[in-house]
Amino acid sequence: MMRTAPCPQLFGPSGPLGGIVRVPGDKSISHRALMLAALAVGTSRIEGLLEGEDVLATAAAMRAMGAEVVRGADGVWTVDGVGVGGLMQPEQALEMGNSGTSTRLLAGLVASHPITATFTGDASLSHRPMGRIIEPLSAMGADFTTSPGGRLPMTVRGLAPAIPTTYRLPVASAQVKSAILLAGLNAPGITRVIEPVPTRDHSERMLAGFGAKLTVETIEGVRHIAITGEAALRPQQIVVPADPSSAAFPAVAALIVPGSAIVIENVGINPTRAGLFDALRMMGADITFTNQRDVGGEPVADITVRHTPLRGVEVPPEIAPSMIDEYPILFVAAALAEGRTVMRGLAELRVKESDRIAVMAEGLRTIGARVEELEDGLIVEGSGGEPLAGGGTVASHLDHRIAMSLAVAGLAARKAVTIDDFSPVDTSFPGFAALLSGLTNR
Ligand code: S3P
Repeated sequence: MMRTAPCPQLFGPSGPLGGIVRVPGDKSISHRALMLAALAVGTSRIEGLLEGEDVLATAAAMRAMGAEVVRGADGVWTVDGVGVGGLMQPEQALEMGNSGTSTRLLAGLVASHPITATFTGDASLSHRPMGRIIEPLSAMGADFTTSPGGRLPMTVRGLAPAIPTTYRLPVASAQVKSAILLAGLNAPGITRVIEPVPTRDHSERMLAGFGAKLTVETIEGVRHIAITGEAALRPQQIVVPADPSSAAFPAVAALIVPGSAIVIENVGINPTRAGLFDALRMMGADITFTNQRDVGGEPVADITVRHTPLRGVEVPPEIAPSMIDEYPILFVAAALAEGRTVMRGLAELRVKESDRIAVMAEGLRTIGARVEELEDGLIVEGSGGEPLAGGGTVASHLDHRIAMSLAVAGLAARKAVTIDDFSPVDTSFPGFAALLSGLTNR
């Protein structure tokens, strides 16, 4: 899991993309599947788990805390859980690599168990704010020691029994919401999260699927989520759909490379995740969902994308939480559109795996796009479908989505673009480069 030498990679002008592909399993759902299976009593089975570094960090942590987590030769994972309340003290620090989701959700689990765990991570993760989970989890009785500024390395000393809390989210964050709900699983009584701006709801869906008593009430547009603690979770058979955040890259590649038409199968289209497809449609994109169905409590579709000349729009800031990870690739689509695209309400992008506003502005400028950086967003003046100049080397800053977004931009450039380090892509999308070349070299 630890990467050493940087691994540069070149992405150049491409012919049309075509074909039918599957992208790897959903990262958010994969983390949650491992965690809840590890807290159930008995054996769960997980099909389609994302085998990226972030999820493997979660798997290793669950093993370190007592669950048996095994990958079968057929790619199906089985997890023998320890039961809620049964997590064991890890013997060593939990190495989280690049994964903010692992860190914040697992801190929630540790917070309400009588154990102590230290979380460490790479340079990117060690810059990310943990105060947002420390505040509510401290109110539940956990004790934290962090590096200056509330950063990793961080030690969490859990309290059992924990104190159920009611917490109103000050930032739209599914990770914070999930950390509190997971802590609430082992707190006696009812833990409540008030969510003024809806974020991805995979935790709620999956907790209910595992048999936790969880209710969601929407009062004047505000979600009130309540979980009853000291729950007994029943083992499940889980099928993880493909990740819409990964599907976003080949989808935008097909939109911006003339002559392309592709199908991406079995993609999660949960409305709390699918905002990118809405934004691209506003820009005129030809995107259709077929074969819509339900897979394990999550809506799924096959997605057909055809090259379309895009036009610039003002992207409504309200949809940001439903596409928060997709802005880097939307910036690339905007760079090829006709006219100006304005994207605001994105302050959260500055505290992701990198400062995604600054880093994308830098990368896009290097390859000839016209962009203006705002405190909370980006304005992009599109090329009107003309290829970007390309050439040069752009920096991925330990951020998988930056690396993949700039790679896709390279496909629609006159000269190939070098990404200085492509290795971060393995955190969420192993096989990305091979999948892309399979679509372009037919
Ligand atoms: C995630 C929530 C989002 C997202 C991240 C995954 C999750 O983070 O950016 O990639 O699985 O809960 P925030 O909760 O910080 O917005």
